[in-house]
Amino acid sequence: MTQLPGLLDTEAIRKDFPILDRVIHDGKKLVYLDNAATSQTPRQVLDVMTGYYELHNANVHRGVHVLAEEATALYEGARDKVAEFINAPSRDEVIFTKNASESLNLVANMLGWADEPYRVDSDTEIVITEMEHHSNIVPWQLLSQRTGAKLKWFGLTDDGRLDLSNINEVITEKTKIVSFVLVSNILGTHNPVEAIVRRAQEVGALVLIDASQAAPHMPLDVQALQADFVAFTGHKMCGPTGIGVLWGRQELLEDLPPFLGGGEMIETVSMSSSTYAPAPHKFEAGTPPISQAIGLGAAVDYLSSIGMDKIAQHEHAITEYAVKRLLEVPDLRIIGPVTAEDRGAAISFTLGDIHPHDVGQVLDEQGIAVRVGHHCARPVCLRYGIPATTRASFYLYSTPAEVDALVDGLEHVRNFFG
Ligand code: ALA
Repeated sequence: MTQLPGLLDTEAIRKDFPILDRVIHDGKKLVYLDNAATSQTPRQVLDVMTGYYELHNANVHRGVHVLAEEATALYEGARDKVAEFINAPSRDEVIFTKNASESLNLVANMLGWADEPYRVDSDTEIVITEMEHHSNIVPWQLLSQRTGAKLKWFGLTDDGRLDLSNINEVITEKTKIVSFVLVSNILGTHNPVEAIVRRAQEVGALVLIDASQAAPHMPLDVQALQADFVAFTGHKMCGPTGIGVLWGRQELLEDLPPFLGGGEMIETVSMSSSTYAPAPHKFEAGTPPISQAIGLGAAVDYLSSIGMDKIAQHEHAITEYAVKRLLEVPDLRIIGPVTAEDRGAAISFTLGDIHPHDVGQVLDEQGIAVRVGHHCARPVCLRYGIPATTRASFYLYSTPAEVDALVDGLEHVRNFFG
């Protein structure tokens, strides 16, 4: 068995994930390499969520009965856990949403309806990058169409990194918001936050970081990032679907207007006007994703008990090994950085002229789950002149043996297609 320095005890960790024992397609052991799309859920999270429904299920912030008080304490307790996990200065800076897309859309809408100095209008500019997930492109296109603001972006270098050579022309005095991904879901690239934040601060622009592919994999410290907003999602970090997070600086959350109106986001309501509750409740209209937030709190406990530093180290070792082994496969081209430095554990590639959907299907027949397509980042495929990629993405329970299984599987794909 291949041993690499820095690996976690995956034999013990995998016992927490019942699904990883599945055998599919007539006796093939599941090799789950689609963690960038969604991670698997450990028993510790499943048990907390089941326990919530069995014993405490009620609406939050609305009842005086025991169950309502317990549900509220669990929901707000999850907020405390998330705040600590990301080193937020205040728990009130943590807004629960339904996913990272909603978090990103929330900021775009806050800015669209905001007063000066945050207001995005036809005299202002929005900056994104060519490696964004569609969820960090489309909301800004919508905002630009609605307000007349100009949408600009950083292009990509041939080796899958951001081209910041024209940073002073892209981010200008007119820039209101710079929104970019910390780790790309398609290229795996880990972006240089500091240079972008420094320039944004020089011109007084706000910074939003999409940390969906970072929060699950490395220590995330929102204070160290020096951004104004950070978005991520629960289901890629051992939590359930239906829960996302937007962290925002307190004074901004106080100043910016809500997007969705409804129950529990108000202070008072009359027939002609309303006043709003303080953040985070101002941004959580209606019954929130209660069990999902509690599940995310349990996921944060689970990840913290292992240690985010150790998880990052494990993934670095697996990624380094995977890059090396994949580059041994004839005709395989990695789309993105070909070193394990400055990259996450999602590796996209093409295999000769075999269509990624065919690659994915033949791998699936061998029990290997990868994602194929444009990964909701179609501009990246356009940039590199390819219709799609195959993407293998690793997590804390991934093993070198699974990398080997992928490489053997790709050999099988090549033989199958001659
Ligand atoms: N954003 C997820 C992915 O990259 C769904 O697969």
